[in-house]
Amino acid sequence: MKKLMIAALLATVLSAHANDVAEGRAKAESACALCHGPTGMATLPNAPNLAGQQAIYLSEQLRNYRSGKRQNEVMNMIAKPLSDADISHLAAWFSAVKVTAEAP
Ligand code: HEC
Repeated sequence: MKKLMIAALLATVLSAHANDVAEGRAKAESACALCHGPTGMATLPNAPNLAGQQAIYLSEQLRNYRSGKRQNEVMNMIAKPLSDADISHLAAWFSAVKVTAEAP
């Protein structure tokens, strides 16, 4: 019984996470892809890659852009209308993208 409850809880948590990733992906496609690329590998030369970045870091930067604590004309404007839920979905999506690093 206890095992079942844990399994059900885990399934709920995991599917909630999957939904966050899907919602973040959809939002990113329309609002972020132009500069950060469709999978978070930047297409604009002065935009950073977001793919595989830590969710905690991403959320913090977005909240800082939204509040103005971190200043950047473009990102301040983009982050302004984001809700807390948008931010956590976007962070879930970009952090879920798998990246590998290879030394030259
Ligand atoms: C018009 C181009 C553009 C769009 C669209 C855009 N960004 Fe950015 N983004 C930038 C630039 C340029 C920077 C670097 C800003 C700076 O120096 O602080 C940046 C920085 C960031 C950073 C900080 C990354 C780091 O390494 O500290 C995050 C997070 C981010 N953007 C998320 C997003 C998200 C999420 C969206 C969509 C909701 C988005 N951006 C849309 C251009 C853009």
